[in-house]
Amino acid sequence: MLLVCGSVRRNSNTEFVCNHLLNLHQELEYLNLKDLNFPIMGSANDLELNNTIKEVGSYISDHEGIIITTPEYHGGMSGALKNFLDYYSSNEFSDKKVLLIGTAGGGKGGINALNNLRLVLRSLGANVVANQVIFDQKDIDKDLGRVDSDLLKKASEYILTLSGKTLNEIY
Ligand SMILES: Cc1cc2nc3c(=O)[nH]c(=O)nc-3n(C[C@H](O)[C@H](O)[C@H](O)COP(=O)(O)O)c2cc1C
Repeated sequence: MLLVCGSVRRNSNTEFVCNHLLNLHQELEYLNLKDLNFPIMGSANDLELNNTIKEVGSYISDHEGIIITTPEYHGGMSGALKNFLDYYSSNEFSDKKVLLIGTAGGGKGGINALNNLRLVLRSLGANVVANQVIFDQKDIDKDLGRVDSDLLKKASEYILTLSGKTLNEIY
């Protein structure tokens, strides 16, 4: 299973949640969009970039399931994540099992970002599962280094379901 961090913001809440998930699920591989630093799709075309795009594409294809995380920015997924997805197609995503995890400021609780992401992934042919989790600002305490344990457990359960395992295997 591959975990994708869809935020490139410094001191990112989404990355913070990803780090907690990685602690719990050491079987996960990790792709942080911050490390890729892809230019806006279509704005650059050089050999090195093309090679990286291909390598990352194969990396995605090699995974049976993907957990994609995104912050909600103005009612949608992050621009960085949409830009990343624009580089790929159903070649990488067709029938791929995908679990969505969001972070948001509160209020509507990030539902728009995940609906937006679900729609885009549908257009890529992905099999996005119904389960999803959203961490609001109140669920994230960076000072104490904690995220809400119930939500974390729920996310964990959904990750295990995606990989065909059960919660008993880690708790
Ligand atoms: C540009 C911007 C737009 C945002 N828009 C929304 C929004 O529409 N709805 C919401 O609930 N939170 C919104 N937020 C709050 C973020 O979703 C929330 O703080 C999230 O955890 C940020 O994740 P990050 O630290 O990985 O960027 C916005 C934050 C930023 C920076």
